[in-house]
Amino acid sequence: MKKKILVSRQYPKAGISLLEKEDFLLTIWEKQRPMTQDELIEQAKTHHALMCTLTDKIDNHFLEQCGHLDIISQFAVGYDNIDVEMATSLGIPVGFTPDAMSEATADIAFGLMIAVARKMFFLHKAIIKGQWGYFNPTGNLGIELKNKTLGIFGLGRIGVKMAQRCKNAYDMDIIYHNRTRNKDAEKLLNASYVEFDDLLLQSDVLSVHCALTPTTKEIFNRSAFKKMKPSAIFINTARGPIHHEKDLTHAIQEGDIWGTGLDVTNPEPMQPDNPLLSMENACILPHVGSGTIEARNQMSVLAAMNIIEFYNSRQIPHIVNPEVLKQ
Ligand code: GLV
Repeated sequence: MKKKILVSRQYPKAGISLLEKEDFLLTIWEKQRPMTQDELIEQAKTHHALMCTLTDKIDNHFLEQCGHLDIISQFAVGYDNIDVEMATSLGIPVGFTPDAMSEATADIAFGLMIAVARKMFFLHKAIIKGQWGYFNPTGNLGIELKNKTLGIFGLGRIGVKMAQRCKNAYDMDIIYHNRTRNKDAEKLLNASYVEFDDLLLQSDVLSVHCALTPTTKEIFNRSAFKKMKPSAIFINTARGPIHHEKDLTHAIQEGDIWGTGLDVTNPEPMQPDNPLLSMENACILPHVGSGTIEARNQMSVLAAMNIIEFYNSRQIPHIVNPEVLKQ
């Protein structure tokens, strides 16, 4: 019997054409809106495999009804939308797409850092509002990044790429905090491991690159921002719920930190009347870290290959819960 694959939206052709070459029956959701969870469940019930992404809720409710799935292949590096523990207990392997977007996401973190330091988005909006006035030698001053200290929270694949950019461009000192030390990255970047509080105290730019877990959820809250330098820039390109957004807004308003660059917000999507959008030192993007042609094509290929290899050889090149395949 041909395997039926549910594809939860229109992913780049690069991966979809690989699936089409195999002997699968594909159902691709083609509407210009995501499926509701009810629609996703209804469809998934009649399929063997699912290709999904970060806004598809693969939670307890979904898995209770779709425990028959052979494989869930996530088009993303993060998988906090998936109840992996439950999938594992049901024997469902979960694939993901690491590394495909490391360069693209690090570019966004690096770009946001410069944009915040020089108030770029605010000044752009000022021109649109007809507010390009006279040359004021003391107006709208930014800060320079040369020789500053970059603190990385979560020095993994993407954090390393961000640190490399900052080192090469501005000779920044690199400090980091992780669950476990990354000795290879320490050597590569001459980076120092510090405790979380020291990361807060010492960073001129603090960039978040960890996964969202119960431990990291809203770890950047009022008490964390209070410990940071008043000149510090907070960058988050990982997951919005890692910061407490009202506390972040308050921290900038109170001068506890200088500003923020966010590619992820808490919640998403950010509403247009959010005060951060009109702040001088805040630059916000709508979760586009992996949004390059190269990264999205590669993600699509990896997500497709996870399904193909699973059916052809019971291997999944990029798997979140490898213990399932050993059972
Ligand atoms: C994007 O946010 C991803 O997890 O790939």
